Amino acid sequence: MSASSLSFRFAVICVIAGMVMGIGMAATQDHSIMPAHAHLNLLGWVSLFLFGIYYERRPALDVSRLAMIQVVLWSVGTIVLTIAVAALHLGYSAADPLAAIASLAVLAAMLIFAYFVFRPARAVESGPAARMSPAE
Ligand code: HEM
Repeated sequence: MSASSLSFRFAVICVIAGMVMGIGMAATQDHSIMPAHAHLNLLGWVSLFLFGIYYERRPALDVSRLAMIQVVLWSVGTIVLTIAVAALHLGYSAADPLAAIASLAVLAAMLIFAYFVFRPARAVESGPAARMSPAE
């Protein structure tokens, strides 16, 4: 499987879970886990979907092992961070170290992504699908 397919799949799972969480908060009128909901939707849905678009436009990168590692590290970090942030806001302060580890995991995944973005242009050249010709 390519990094983009994995990103899109994880992103959709995250937004479904995030929406269920949002509906749960609205239905119970208990918004205490709102920061966890926001993190799951923004790290899980929005960011992962954006990674997927970036990878899909760069076919060589899309099938690279490091891109897969980036997506998996980001996804696992996001899930653990969401659980830890929810636990913290429900009063379980023991979840603090878990939140710290997960936040470092997503930072590491973002640093890998930064490496893809900043490395020499030839290595991350867009694939033919990304090149558009003006309409005649
Ligand atoms: C079924 C869909 C959703 C429902 C029912 C829902 C519900 C909620 C609720 C009840 C809150 C708490 C508001 C408050 O306490 O002030 C909230 C906050 C938030 N939601 Fe959602 N949400 C949904 C989808 C999404 C999605 C898809 C995203 C992002 C792409 C998102 C991002 C946020 C953010 C960033 C906040 C925090 C807002 C703030 O800081 O005031 N939500 N949502």
